[in-house]
Amino acid sequence: MTATIIDGKAFAAKVREKVAAHVRHLKEDHGLTPGLAVVLVGEDPASQVYVRSKGKQTVEVGMASFEHRLEADTSERALLELIDRLNADPQVHGILVQLPLPDHLDSDLVINRIDPTKDVDGFHISNVGLLGTGQKSMVPCTPLGCLMMLREHHGSLSGMNAVVVGRSNIVGKPMAQLLLGDSCTVTIAHSRTRDLAAVCRGADILVAAVGRPRMIPGDWVKPGATVIDVGINRIEDGGKAKLVGDVDFDSAAAVAGAITPVPGGVGPMTIACLLANTVVAAARANGLAEPQGLTV
Ligand code: GUN
Repeated sequence: MTATIIDGKAFAAKVREKVAAHVRHLKEDHGLTPGLAVVLVGEDPASQVYVRSKGKQTVEVGMASFEHRLEADTSERALLELIDRLNADPQVHGILVQLPLPDHLDSDLVINRIDPTKDVDGFHISNVGLLGTGQKSMVPCTPLGCLMMLREHHGSLSGMNAVVVGRSNIVGKPMAQLLLGDSCTVTIAHSRTRDLAAVCRGADILVAAVGRPRMIPGDWVKPGATVIDVGINRIEDGGKAKLVGDVDFDSAAAVAGAITPVPGGVGPMTIACLLANTVVAAARANGLAEPQGLTV
């Protein structure tokens, strides 16, 4: 069997179109321009690339982009004061603090200072609790993008066995909550899981989010399963830099029913969902109808 390739790049373009259409509606009918503030502390090269990309795409869909680049030695107090200002700014509907933060800053404290209704990353403890209890919340962007692709591919996910490999707060745990919300039978596996291969082989939906290049080979994949590869790992391949996922794509694609590639799978969906969360936050903040198909 050769798997269907789930084209995240094309799907992300469709999500951005929907976002742009709703932004036009908010501007023309309500005089409201959704705004996203991104805060970057320090000069981590990968974070700089992400932040630039976020700012560019924010403007492309017609929203206002506010970038705040702070020195690596910025004090916690100064960062918290900036977040307080953004919380109070009516032009800012979404706030994202790029992670990881430098070691001297307490990420939990910083994230939990963000107004939960502006927390477009869905990392604030209030949003985590709302998601866990099935209430309306801001949903973390990467798992939201994965869920959108799964729904698009399968329609209903009800009753399917889903295995999430990875237990991070950013991807693994919220992914499991979303799949449970869609009535999957969910297993969260991780580096200490006994016989991980056997656990993965039971999955109708296998989500890999461990951050280890090509860790999951094709013989861990159930024939016909849907594989969502969240990993973005930079490796040297024959002296050339290359991006690979957590799944060994070639061997997995020979067994799976459908699979997301790296690059071009989950990655583009993450920023598209950030834009979706921002337009949703702007609509909610103003008591307006939410766009259809951009939330869970
Ligand atoms: N760093 C890597 N991924 C993310 C993300 O989704 N949100 C934020 N804020 N930082 C990140």
